[in-house]
Amino acid sequence: MYPLFLVILLVPAACGIGCPPGCECNDDTFVVQCVHGRLDVIPITLNPAIQRLVLKSNRIRSVDSALQFYRDLRYIDLSSNHLVSIPSGNFLYQERLQELHLYNNTLSSINTTTFQGLKSLTVLNLRKNYLDELPKRLFSTLTKIEELDLGENSISRIDPLAFDGLRNLRVLYLDDNNLSMVPTPTFSVIGSLAELHVGHNGFTILPDDSFKGLSKLTVLDIRSAGLSNISLNAFRGLTMLRSLNLADNRLQQIPTAQLQHLVRLEELTIGQNEFTVLEKGAFKGLSNLVKIDITSAINLERIEKGAFSDNLNLETIILVSNKRLESLEDGVLVGLPNLRRLVLRENSFKTLSESVTSWNELKALELTDNPINCDCQLLWLLKSISSRNLTNVQCSTPLQLRDRSLRTLTADDLGCSFRDPRQQAIIITFCVSATILLGLLCLFLFRYRLKVREALKDYKWNKRAISRKEHEYQKTFSDEDYITRTGQHYIKPIPVTEL
Ligand SMILES: *[C@@H]1O[C@H](CO)[C@@H](O)[C@H](O)[C@H]1NC(C)=O
Ligand SMILES: *[C@@H]1O[C@H](CO)[C@@H](O)[C@H](O)[C@H]1NC(C)=O
Ligand SMILES: *[C@@H]1O[C@H](CO)[C@@H](O)[C@H](O)[C@H]1NC(C)=O
Ligand SMILES: *[C@@H]1O[C@H](CO)[C@@H](O)[C@H](O)[C@H]1NC(C)=O
Ligand SMILES: *[C@@H]1O[C@H](CO)[C@@H](O)[C@H](O)[C@H]1NC(C)=O
Repeated sequence: MYPLFLVILLVPAACGIGCPPGCECNDDTFVVQCVHGRLDVIPITLNPAIQRLVLKSNRIRSVDSALQFYRDLRYIDLSSNHLVSIPSGNFLYQERLQELHLYNNTLSSINTTTFQGLKSLTVLNLRKNYLDELPKRLFSTLTKIEELDLGENSISRIDPLAFDGLRNLRVLYLDDNNLSMVPTPTFSVIGSLAELHVGHNGFTILPDDSFKGLSKLTVLDIRSAGLSNISLNAFRGLTMLRSLNLADNRLQQIPTAQLQHLVRLEELTIGQNEFTVLEKGAFKGLSNLVKIDITSAINLERIEKGAFSDNLNLETIILVSNKRLESLEDGVLVGLPNLRRLVLRENSFKTLSESVTSWNELKALELTDNPINCDCQLLWLLKSISSRNLTNVQCSTPLQLRDRSLRTLTADDLGCSFRDPRQQAIIITFCVSATILLGLLCLFLFRYRLKVREALKDYKWNKRAISRKEHEYQKTFSDEDYITRTGQHYIKPIPVTEL
């Protein structure tokens, strides 16, 4: 008996119960972390009460029966390992598990039995694996699941009932797969969805009612999906949508009519497309829009006045890295009472007129990395630098001011002083013309001095008469009245040409 007792007592101690080399184990918080280690299996000597197991970046090839020793686990991270498959029923004892991270492995086949037992799972991350197909009722045992990440796989087929049973699903990532159509038929069983990411696929078109059934969707991300054509009613039914990302597609125009279905839209990202102009009323009907982001629209050349005229709630306009955009028309951003932040970085602006917008609420203007010409036209900007939150504006031209910061310049540097020869010339011309005109006037008065004196007398008399009449009738006379009433006394003005 004695040796056996010793063995029971000493073996675990000798094997170092708790912590294999390269791991950190905390018996107070029940957290074990073995990150960037060389583990090729899940250790079985850990504290059986652990709740959080982080085995990121090891060489684990399979999830074997080891997990059955840890029945209190809430969180497992097996990201960046070498998992190829997961045997059926592997998680049968993980009834308390809430998050399972299998990101960046080489899983190619999972089926309905894979996730059996995960009654409490709310987050499942399968991003960056080799899944190519999602069969019927694949995740149906995961009734509590709220977030499912299937991004960066090679999924090309999704059964209409693939997500059946996921009544609580709120966030779904299907981005960066091999889908050629938006998987519309699958949406009818996940009406609870709030966020959908389907970008980085090859759609080319979005047909009518592409998102049918997703009436609670608030975030939709379709960036980089090769879209060149969006059907008129593609977004029909998305009445709760607040954020839409359409960046990096092949849209040749702003899909104005299509977007009008999105009455609640607050945030629109639509850069990296092929449109050349933002027409008047381009975002018609989007009265709740708060933020618009147009970054790297390579062909964008012009923004028409009134492009944002329907978007009175706009607070942030981001126009960044639009290399063909050389100027903003006067008044193009006026009438936006809530505009707070204007980001105009990395365009081709040489100058910016003060009358582009009305500056009421504007708190921040970013204008860096434009080929700004620092001349007197920017004096207003220099003056308002201190009062507005302006990021650094650097001069590109003229040569002597190259790379200087506008902030450090004076009105003199901008050539605003009268020493400017061009302005001097203008002033001299003005003075000379004024002198000549004055001379001519004197000459005229002198030549016709008698007539003028008489005329003035008449005028005084008429005026008195009129004011008396006005007083009587409490009414103003029109010019015609004046002429007819004063009859002979009306003075024909002497045309200047008679001089
Ligand atoms: C994915 O895992 C491999 C090892 O399996 C690792 O070398 C690579 O850096 C990981 N990639 C990312 C993006 O984490
Ligand atoms: C599910 O996958 C496991 C492991 O790949 C396999 O052993 C099992 O036979 C599969 N079950 C079904 C019903 O396809
Ligand atoms: C994508 O799917 C097509 C067929 O739909 C297939 O020919 C192609 O090989 C797939 N590409 C990848 C990377 O899986
Ligand atoms: C977009 O698709 C609609 C219907 O599918 C078609 O009538 C229209 O010509 C297409 N437009 C472009 C620019 O391809
Ligand atoms: C000024 O702008 C920067 C960046 O745009 C921002 O982080 C900062 O909070 C702003 N400061 C004020 C006082 O608005």
